[in-house]
Amino acid sequence: MPETTFTPARILGIESSCDETAAAVVENGGMLLSSVVASQVDLHAAYGGVFPEVASRQHIKTVYGVVDQALHKAHIGLGDVDAIAVTRGPGLAGSLVVGLNMAKGIAVAGDIPIIGVNHLEGHVYSAWVRSANDPHPSPHPQFPLVILLVSGGHSELYLMEDHLRYRRLGGTLDDAAGEAFDKVARLLELSYPGGPSIQKAAEQGDPKAFQFPRTRLEGSWDFSFSGLKTAVLRIVRKIEEDHQALPVNDLAASFQEAVVDVLLEKTLRAAEEFSASEILIAGGVSANRALREAFQSKSPVKVNIPHISLCTDNAAMIATAGYYRFVHGVRDSLDMDAFPNWRLA
Ligand code: KG4
Ligand code: ZN
Repeated sequence: MPETTFTPARILGIESSCDETAAAVVENGGMLLSSVVASQVDLHAAYGGVFPEVASRQHIKTVYGVVDQALHKAHIGLGDVDAIAVTRGPGLAGSLVVGLNMAKGIAVAGDIPIIGVNHLEGHVYSAWVRSANDPHPSPHPQFPLVILLVSGGHSELYLMEDHLRYRRLGGTLDDAAGEAFDKVARLLELSYPGGPSIQKAAEQGDPKAFQFPRTRLEGSWDFSFSGLKTAVLRIVRKIEEDHQALPVNDLAASFQEAVVDVLLEKTLRAAEEFSASEILIAGGVSANRALREAFQSKSPVKVNIPHISLCTDNAAMIATAGYYRFVHGVRDSLDMDAFPNWRLA
């Protein structure tokens, strides 16, 4: 299939919704010229989660340098930027305003249009990002898409029939998938963030060692992970009461398999029900190797999963979502506020 021709436009993206300060430059629908991510993970590890005030103060310290570096690495100046895309929500209010104010300052200084981007839309558009020096870029996702968006704060299923058009099918009723990874990691005394730690422990464990529940919520497109988390807690308590050593690797592997089973089953069913051409998985949890392998081996339709470096928070995805908003004529005003609970659909 021939690749679409793109409206030429170069977008500077800025992301600061949680604990990553990021800036990136993309052009023509996701061609990546630069991407800089300053992670605060080490700062928050001591708290076992993101400490909001620490996060916003750190964004203030790093945002200027990160944006400057992104422009420098892309070998461009502000005069070469057609629009600035900035995460407006969902996220931590105190963190979002730092990125927003940086973007507004640049927009005023350079007389450049500004576009507010939904962070979840950014995760979706991470599947459109392509390396600028890849001689054979893979084709872009084809609509209609069923999207599984699994991050620290969200576990959502959407149907996307065209650019910027989403229909929410369902989502978690309690914990997000990434949140479940983080909470179970804490129970198993694994380091923060929990997802990568559980994945690492699970590689040495037996996924069949414990039969954890799969909450299927038949007849709906919703998810629930709190029962699974409680089941892990109960087993951990029992083992501790019996003064046995925790079989951390087996618990991690069995937990991970339970999460992957539920996400896979429901997403494949939605793809069939809505006759999706392809599936798109995005958000931090899509970095999980077991999840990626399960989808790649079991899905009857093509599965788009962003490169690992684009699964967790970054600004390339925000710039790319901003590109599609820009070419669809979206412009926002300088009085745009942060939108901490912004829903995608
Ligand atoms: O998308 P993201 O970077 O931030 C949010 O928008 O929330 O996602 C972060 C979440 C965390 O809960 C983290 O534990 C999880 O993604 N995560 C993973 C993996 N890498 C990150 N979960 C499972 N396996 C991984 N390899
Ligand atoms: Zn995210």
